[in-house]
Amino acid sequence: MNIRLFELRDDEVAAYMRAAANLPAGYSISFDTQILSEANIDSVAGCEGIIINNKSVMSAALVERAHELGVRYIAIRCVGFNHVDVKRAQELGIKVCNTAYPPYGVAEFTVMLILMALRRCKAAIWRQQVNDYSLDGLLGRELRTLTVGVVGTGRIGRTVIDNLSGFGCKILAYDPYPNAELANRDSLEYVDMDTLVANSDVITLHVPLMDSTRAIINADAIAKMREDVTIVNVSRGELIDTDAVIEAIESEKIGALAMDVFEDEVGIYHENRMHDILANRKMAYLRQFPNVLLTNHIAFYTDIDVNCMVEQGVAAVPAMVEGTCATQL
Ligand code: COI
Repeated sequence: MNIRLFELRDDEVAAYMRAAANLPAGYSISFDTQILSEANIDSVAGCEGIIINNKSVMSAALVERAHELGVRYIAIRCVGFNHVDVKRAQELGIKVCNTAYPPYGVAEFTVMLILMALRRCKAAIWRQQVNDYSLDGLLGRELRTLTVGVVGTGRIGRTVIDNLSGFGCKILAYDPYPNAELANRDSLEYVDMDTLVANSDVITLHVPLMDSTRAIINADAIAKMREDVTIVNVSRGELIDTDAVIEAIESEKIGALAMDVFEDEVGIYHENRMHDILANRKMAYLRQFPNVLLTNHIAFYTDIDVNCMVEQGVAAVPAMVEGTCATQL
């Protein structure tokens, strides 16, 4: 079977070579550094399996075209799969999986953002550059005195909870499918979303982007939140209604915001756009605030996670063929 992998980055080449060498007999693999799109979809002709990352948006039309060209297996080598019309693929009999790289990198990054937000690190680092060593506006809060609301207790949310356990903060968790082991812990309490939103000083998001989670942080939710709330999002930009968040930063209801993701980030994040005129006004506007920390979708970007995404992604195609793929959707 021929497999074609898209969106290969330079830093993934070594892992790609290892993964290619480990494919079972009967499989051969090629790659493209570009995203998969209408422009290059014809290159999948003759490939039963394709592997994409987070930027190849596979609408129903693109999925249908891939199917016409013979694609029967789609391996998404990231956790999020909101960019692929999985339902349409499954209707056509295409098997689709995502990847479950270890949650530790993203969870550690989350805790870092929480602490940076609470300790006003962005403003402190900015001021260093201009010899401003004043304390004004840098008064922080101690995590041990606060309540952290963790939205989503899948692998990453659970690891964030584990990482937070040493800080002594109170933890509230929300998930439509609570984890039985977590539910038995004395150190946290599962609550409904409204209760979490109303009683947390820090809210961190670890849910996939779906119809039911799009804009879960919206004006209604923000109205119920505590004054000076800190919001952290390392999952998907569209979980947040950015306009509502901007208003709440302006009104100072939100005390700090840290986001590793942003709505419509594709084409911006992970690219060098230094000399370009960017059209994402909301990103440019939010970035100016001393209490808004934006990073360019790098929570996943660790040696371990990058290797794992490539190796698992490649191995997932034969695993789907054999019916042993643990992350098939
Ligand atoms: C994911 O795995 O879903 C991510 O968000 C990381 C992706 C940017 C490669």
